Amino acid sequence: MDNSIRILKDNEDFLEDHGKDIQAHIFSPHRKRYASYLFLKFSDVLANKEKTINFLKILGDGEKKLRIVSFQENNSNKHVFINIYLTADGLEYFGFKEGWEEIINNLRSKKEDLLFDESRHNQLEQMNVHAVILLAHENKTELISRSESLKNRFSNKYGAIIVEKENGITYRRKKIPNQQRGSVVEHFGYADGLSNPWIIGNDAKLKDGTPKSKTHWDLTASVHDFIIPEPSIDDPHFGSYLVYRKFEQNVKEFDDTMKTLSTKTGGYPKDEIGSFVFGRIKNGTPVEDPNVLEKAYNDFKYDTGKCPFFAHIRKANPRDEKEKIKMIRRGITYGERDEIETSVGGYELDEKSVPKEEVGLLFFSFVNNIDNFQKVLRRCRDKKNGVDPILGYIYGSDPLSTHTFPHKTEGSVAYKGMAGLVDLKEGINLYMPSIHFFQTLHLNGVTV
Ligand code: HEM
Repeated sequence: MDNSIRILKDNEDFLEDHGKDIQAHIFSPHRKRYASYLFLKFSDVLANKEKTINFLKILGDGEKKLRIVSFQENNSNKHVFINIYLTADGLEYFGFKEGWEEIINNLRSKKEDLLFDESRHNQLEQMNVHAVILLAHENKTELISRSESLKNRFSNKYGAIIVEKENGITYRRKKIPNQQRGSVVEHFGYADGLSNPWIIGNDAKLKDGTPKSKTHWDLTASVHDFIIPEPSIDDPHFGSYLVYRKFEQNVKEFDDTMKTLSTKTGGYPKDEIGSFVFGRIKNGTPVEDPNVLEKAYNDFKYDTGKCPFFAHIRKANPRDEKEKIKMIRRGITYGERDEIETSVGGYELDEKSVPKEEVGLLFFSFVNNIDNFQKVLRRCRDKKNGVDPILGYIYGSDPLSTHTFPHKTEGSVAYKGMAGLVDLKEGINLYMPSIHFFQTLHLNGVTV
């Protein structure tokens, strides 16, 4: 049996045994258009704490319409999708200390990107958030009503403070024939979420069942690359670290920069020059191999010289076995944009409006080691061959870093001035507990 098939089979066996106990979003995205993230600080009053614990137990074990969705149960569009994550403060709030030292330490210490400029980035952390609740639904009205009722319950009945609320919305491109719906796009208009690891057999296939190609680069990964064993006195349970960072995107600046570059490089259309920034054209086709079909969107390495070294996807993942870092990205865009109804059904992002602020990416990534996230960031900020225009300037890099673009007719053009496209606003490190964790929650936590 081919090794990837064996890994996918092992993952499926593992998820057969544990998929009911693992929160859904890590291995199967919620796939809903609207998401709402509630950042909560629970009350220290004992009676409130007891009520909070009782309610979280209900969310862990209650009726389907109000329950944390597990991997195995992630199949309903009717009910609101709920997942819950905790901070280091949150774990301690419930009395988790002994046996949990390493997890708590990691959550607190691995945040070098946030410490860089305390006054600007650390707001969320100063508010002592305990938990983040993700709610998602295909229907916006339904989501608002569910999230308001949960907010009211936590604040009015259990004395919690709603420190912050973030609303995510999924924008798409026009769909192409093999797709059920158009690809998800980030605010600069590029298809996103294309290269997440393959965990189960279906991830490795197109919608029509055709296997995705993997001759040059194989996205197959083991579930264990993303989860950690949860300290527990019972049977094995599993959790994961979830890194949250909020990035603002300046779409106007991106658009202006692409127009300038289009002129400087002898007339590349601005979308084409933008593809050098990301390493993929807008529909997701890699610059490295523009002829690949959808089934081979990820089956490439960097050996043709077409993709600049500084391109976001090349910096983030140079596709070199020795430098392989595994992460599952589950970000969602935030901020209102116009959309156009398409002739093939659905809506696509209207790129005519170019906001300067208030739009961006709520970046969420599941990792079994927060260092993995920090390593990718460090790689993106490395000045060798130019920093990543997307992540290279989010904190403390030289704004005059040079990027070399090919000229349309001959040679190349050196350009300084890619800073200011993306800004890191705030962030927090989270832990995604197992569902058993919530089902067995009690006043003094559990010790191993
Ligand atoms: C505003 C912020 C960001 C934007 C607009 C953005 C956009 C994109 C886009 C369009 C892609 C190509 C689609 C895909 O391969 O899935 C991509 C890929 C990727 N991004 Fe980002 N991203 C952002 C932040 C981040 C952050 C913070 C990290 C991690 C530190 C990251 C890591 C990656 C990785 C690992 C890939 C896949 C590369 C590959 O395997 O080929 N991105 N991103």
